[in-house]
Amino acid sequence: MQTITTVLELRQVLAEAVNADKRIGLVPTMGYLHEGHLALIEASRAQSDVTVVSIFVNPTQFGPSEDLATYPRDLVRDERLCREAGVAIVFAPNVQELYPTHFETFVEPGELANSLCGVFRPGHFRGVATIVCKLFNLVRPDVAFFGQKDFQQCAIVRRVVADLNLPVEVITVPTVREPDGLAMSSRNRYLGEEERRRALAISRGLFAAGAEFQIGERNVEALVAIVRRQLDEIDRVQYVELVDTDTLKPATRPLSRPAALCAAAYVGSTRLIDNIILKPKV
Ligand code: PAF
Repeated sequence: MQTITTVLELRQVLAEAVNADKRIGLVPTMGYLHEGHLALIEASRAQSDVTVVSIFVNPTQFGPSEDLATYPRDLVRDERLCREAGVAIVFAPNVQELYPTHFETFVEPGELANSLCGVFRPGHFRGVATIVCKLFNLVRPDVAFFGQKDFQQCAIVRRVVADLNLPVEVITVPTVREPDGLAMSSRNRYLGEEERRRALAISRGLFAAGAEFQIGERNVEALVAIVRRQLDEIDRVQYVELVDTDTLKPATRPLSRPAALCAAAYVGSTRLIDNIILKPKV
């Protein structure tokens, strides 16, 4: 495995892979890898010849009062995990390498970025769309892997790829959870023991709604209410919404198309998101 920090070297190394007709898989990450990232790497290894993992805490997707400065970082540990997982290339540039002085061009997503997290994190998805396009341009992957936990991000990346005719296949990999249900996230490390216990209410609420859906509940408000009922102990709920998986608009009532039941909430000062997909049988 090689760790590469410059655009120049990345292009050189990847040119060799392309000349050898290798299929390239990209797993974009912000590092501090967990089982969720390892599932993305495993999916990439199964579907490509060369897996590239990018590790870059992207400043343009953080708001001014968000956790850019404290976002967990441990490149040595990440490199070890990547090596053990069979990654070929870790791309870990510094900020100046990707955002040199005078950088001023951004990718602006449309309507899909205006709901859910987009309401509470203005500019976040502009930063995500920009860095993902830059990584696609640098790595030129045949296929790229994103976790379902960031459901809105997946929808926006797919839209950007379609709208800008980017030659990459986007694969969404199911959320990996702790044994008790908590969705894996690098931010879980911020949680104290008591917060960690309270954070479980989010997945518990989603699963409770999912169970009611399985036995026939199709009322959108009722499903949302089931989640909300579990969130008493949560410090600040930003949203619980059931949205159409394609448009991210509020799901139609009664539910007749695949929908994502999504939640975002603060436990202490840690913002957590999670979702499940509900698929009515047609
Ligand atoms: O999901 C993430 O970790 C980030 O949003 C991504 C896709 C790596 C872009 O910085």
